[in-house]
Amino acid sequence: MESFKDKVAVVTGGGSGIGRAMALALAREGARVVLADLDEAAMDGVARQARGHGVETLAVRTDVTELAQVQALAERAWKAFGAVHVLCNNAGVAAWGGLEKATHRDWQWVLGVNLWGVIHGIEAFVPRMIAGGQRGHIVNTASMAGLIASQGLGVYNTSKYAVVGLSETLAKDLKPHGIGVSVLCPMGVETRIRESERSRPAALRNDAAAEPAVELIGRYLAPDTVAGMVLDAVRRGELYVITHDEGLEPLRRRFERMQQSILSRRKA
Ligand SMILES: NC(=O)c1ccc[n+]([C@@H]2O[C@H](COP(=O)([O-])OP(=O)(O)OC[C@H]3O[C@@H](n4cnc5c(N)ncnc54)[C@H](O)[C@@H]3O)[C@@H](O)[C@H]2O)c1
Repeated sequence: MESFKDKVAVVTGGGSGIGRAMALALAREGARVVLADLDEAAMDGVARQARGHGVETLAVRTDVTELAQVQALAERAWKAFGAVHVLCNNAGVAAWGGLEKATHRDWQWVLGVNLWGVIHGIEAFVPRMIAGGQRGHIVNTASMAGLIASQGLGVYNTSKYAVVGLSETLAKDLKPHGIGVSVLCPMGVETRIRESERSRPAALRNDAAAEPAVELIGRYLAPDTVAGMVLDAVRRGELYVITHDEGLEPLRRRFERMQQSILSRRKA
């Protein structure tokens, strides 16, 4: 996708952090922006800022864990703008703690938002994007936690590994339709992710207090920096958006360990 001017972009989790930054970067480039988030006040603030760039916006309160709500979001987007060219399945939450202590509610909540939210985006938008016959792009926000399994983040890792696998396959499946796919895999970004519990629904809250967040290695990037990398990747049609140079060594070590499994058997 060479230009975002007059395109229509949908961003879930667009009220805060990386989603907010992607929405504003797209608006700066002239895209009309549809925001979807649980936090209406935050979303309205972002919509106001986006309009400051002279583009039309739409903000739709959406819980991405509910397919019907994501379908209603798609309906509103097509009704308002007649097309969707860029879909950012970005809403996400994190829960910390060892897998031996994870509650069923942790699994339901984190997989509900991080994995089912992406699946719902694909179900609700992709068939209509294909039917529209225009070029398009899907950005799924995973994490470096979808490529490297950090201790103390198991439920989150599981959701993000799934998003990476889904995105890699989606890229192949949608290529014949002229729809590109990128999967965003950042390490630390300065957002409110550590305050994720704020959006956990009452029915999925744990009785015990939440585990403290684990410290991530590497730098914390500004959301605007990450958003710039995403737009570049969409322009260039690149699948992986691996934002941190610090990711190179852990990725190499992981690959070497896998390679070793084959090579050591050959030697035996
Ligand atoms: N910040 C990081 O260090 C980091 C690193 C790697 C990946 N990520 C991923 O980036 C994405 C964005 O997170 P962020 O860091 O900007 O955090 P954030 O908390 O600042 O923003 C997340 C947004 O998602 C919204 N949200 C939560 N549950 C939702 C639901 N059920 N339906 C709709 N919206 C919902 C929240 O209201 C919030 O506006 C997530 O997928 C996260 O896993 C973040």
